[in-house]
Amino acid sequence: MKTTHYVAREPDAQGHIHYPDAEHAVWQTLVERQLKLLEGRACQEYLDGLDQLALPRERIPQLGEINRVLAATTGWQVERVPALIPFQRFFELLASKRFPVATFIRTPEELDYLQEPDIFHEIFGHCPLLTNPWFAEFTHTYGQLGLAASKEERVYLARLYWMTVEFGLVDTPAGRRIYGGGILSSPKETLYSLSSEPEQQAFDPLERCARVSHRHPAATVLRPAGPAPAVRTGPRGHHGAGPAGHAPGPAPAEVSAEGGVG
Ligand SMILES: [Fe+2]
Repeated sequence: MKTTHYVAREPDAQGHIHYPDAEHAVWQTLVERQLKLLEGRACQEYLDGLDQLALPRERIPQLGEINRVLAATTGWQVERVPALIPFQRFFELLASKRFPVATFIRTPEELDYLQEPDIFHEIFGHCPLLTNPWFAEFTHTYGQLGLAASKEERVYLARLYWMTVEFGLVDTPAGRRIYGGGILSSPKETLYSLSSEPEQQAFDPLERCARVSHRHPAATVLRPAGPAPAVRTGPRGHHGAGPAGHAPGPAPAEVSAEGGVG
């Protein structure tokens, strides 16, 4: 498993996690700059989930606040985990409708890019769509399949996650929108993924997850049923910034079943 210099914060006896003011300030910076970019770029289901979560701007939320909303909408929960966890633990959590959240936040020096999935990425990037019954069901099923999968099959599942939950785009009646949490928690990825810069192709699970051989990850586009013109964004990452590295793996060709995740 990878290593990290970040350490997840522990709760006190009442279950409250105390973050220093400087860490709350990092949260506020991340939230405020990202909120400015979401309208017209994030998919409506994500924006609806963000409304439901009503995340605080000026402080890092407690996991209990997130859990109250998830419990009332889809029955999911977030679970406090260390900065990195193994694949097995990741799939166990998803299979039981628990989403892992490492309770640390990036340093100001890593505001735009870090390898580890921090609390901003997990909560702001992923939790809004976990209020959506369809997406929650997809993630639950994904976890169950992962738990039952072989080491080799988990490599394909890791690619599927990377190209959907982390870097997915979707074509809607209003236009192309983002639903991947890896994009939605990064200002540069948010702008880049919808720009004319990336090459675009249709998302084909077999082609993209089982046969892909290039090094760079790519945002992929889901389309409504019917003939799909070629659409895919990618490769990304050459503009010097990327999303938090997170579950379950790096670029598709680099995915390893032993890879650490968070
Ligand atoms: Fe993630």
